[in-house]
Amino acid sequence: MPPNQPPARNHDGESVLSRFQRPVTALVTGASRGLGLAFVQRLAAEVGVRRVWAGCRNPSAAAELAAMAGADGRIRPLGLDVTDEGRLAGAARIVAMEAEPLDMVINCVGVLHEPEGMQPERRLAEVRADWLLQSFAVNGAGPLLLARYFEPLLPRRERAVFASLSARVGSISDNRLGGWYAYRGAKAAQNMFMKTLSIELARRARGIVCVALHPGTTRTGLSQPFRGSVPEDRLFSPERAAEQLLRVIDGLGSSENGGFFAWNGEKIPW
Ligand SMILES: NC(=O)c1ccc[n+]([C@@H]2O[C@H](COP(=O)([O-])OP(=O)(O)OC[C@H]3O[C@@H](n4cnc5c(N)ncnc54)[C@H](OP(=O)(O)O)[C@@H]3O)[C@@H](O)[C@H]2O)c1
Repeated sequence: MPPNQPPARNHDGESVLSRFQRPVTALVTGASRGLGLAFVQRLAAEVGVRRVWAGCRNPSAAAELAAMAGADGRIRPLGLDVTDEGRLAGAARIVAMEAEPLDMVINCVGVLHEPEGMQPERRLAEVRADWLLQSFAVNGAGPLLLARYFEPLLPRRERAVFASLSARVGSISDNRLGGWYAYRGAKAAQNMFMKTLSIELARRARGIVCVALHPGTTRTGLSQPFRGSVPEDRLFSPERAAEQLLRVIDGLGSSENGGFFAWNGEKIPW
């Protein structure tokens, strides 16, 4: 395939974006690997997609993403870090210059055991200030800062989606096992931020649906050390998880604004 040409074939299955007005422009963050990379790949398999902005911290080090972008000119790597407002503002300016409103933002940024050495805490004695702050910066504040800089690029009246990958363990009422203080607490904060944002957006009569999503346990670097006890039929490939969540995103309407949904569309209690 010549570089910078869209693929001639659509994905083998049916479209996962039947309810979006075409052409679709999307921003996916965390696009260097794991779920974010799978979202970029699945979106680019849709013929109705005009552009996929692929946000990641270091595009030149994201080899798989760079290869995808080299083969498909609709994929545009975009340098951003959700903890760095200067880089977020700069990335939003680049997207704004194209004058294509974003139909969807899918935030796939997250940390559980990064940087190296960080571990989910099993008990109170393992809690550390630096891990709490790292998790809150990336998993908690990150999605809200992303919204702060990219919400103006979502269209004014038509339907658009701001979806942030949270985690079921961020549900307070679903917490039966305890532990994982920094990750649970920061994901719960993310959930509150998404709920609060959804109320502001609805008040301003914007057609934006803002949700938190749980992908299910997925084979990525993030879950790698912790998925031993997960039954095979509950462990998703990143490709399958992205496909499932895109179907959930496609089905979202104004009545879902401010909700927390799992990979199968089930509503998760806060
Ligand atoms: N995998 C699962 O089983 C599972 C389950 C529940 C929820 N989730 C959630 O799903 C999301 C995606 O997880 P994943 O499994 O795909 O994880 P992953 O493979 O570890 O990928 C994490 C992504 O986050 C990016 N990132 C980290 N810090 C960042 C920052 N400050 N600014 C911008 N990007 C940053 C990483 O970029 P670099 O390459 O630059 O480090 C990477 O692209 C996360 O929010 C996670 O909590 C995953």
